[in-house]
Amino acid sequence: LASIEVNVEALEPGMSLTVKWRGKPVFIRNRTDEEVAEAQAVALDDLKDPIARNANVADGSAATDIDRSAGEGKENWIVMIGSCTHLGCVPLGQAGDFGGWFCPCHGSHYDTAGRIRKGPAPTNLPVPPFAFVSDSVIKIG
Ligand code: FES
Repeated sequence: LASIEVNVEALEPGMSLTVKWRGKPVFIRNRTDEEVAEAQAVALDDLKDPIARNANVADGSAATDIDRSAGEGKENWIVMIGSCTHLGCVPLGQAGDFGGWFCPCHGSHYDTAGRIRKGPAPTNLPVPPFAFVSDSVIKIG
């Protein structure tokens, strides 16, 4: 299937789910206000990879929290391909030094915006093409 639709109505703030898209895990997380505020407060200079890597924004956009998220008004939502950019293991959610994801294979820590902050992974977790087709349904692909 080229694209899938996922109902996220039951996902309260702080909850996440993993779906499969094109054979890969895709993480969907409804971040809490605190998690969003924390990610927004990070200076771009502190990022190992300053590029958004979001298929939905212009190529080369900076990895600001808003451009890593579903955008204005939906900045609590994060949708990312759940494949560590080091060697492709599946990172664990709500884990690691930055409260985002942690890859147990070789110790990469991602923040709540899926940006690589520590460890061997070279780049942020990529954001696939996606859009809200209604208040509670996300189309991926
Ligand atoms: Fe994730 Fe190596 S595959 S840290």
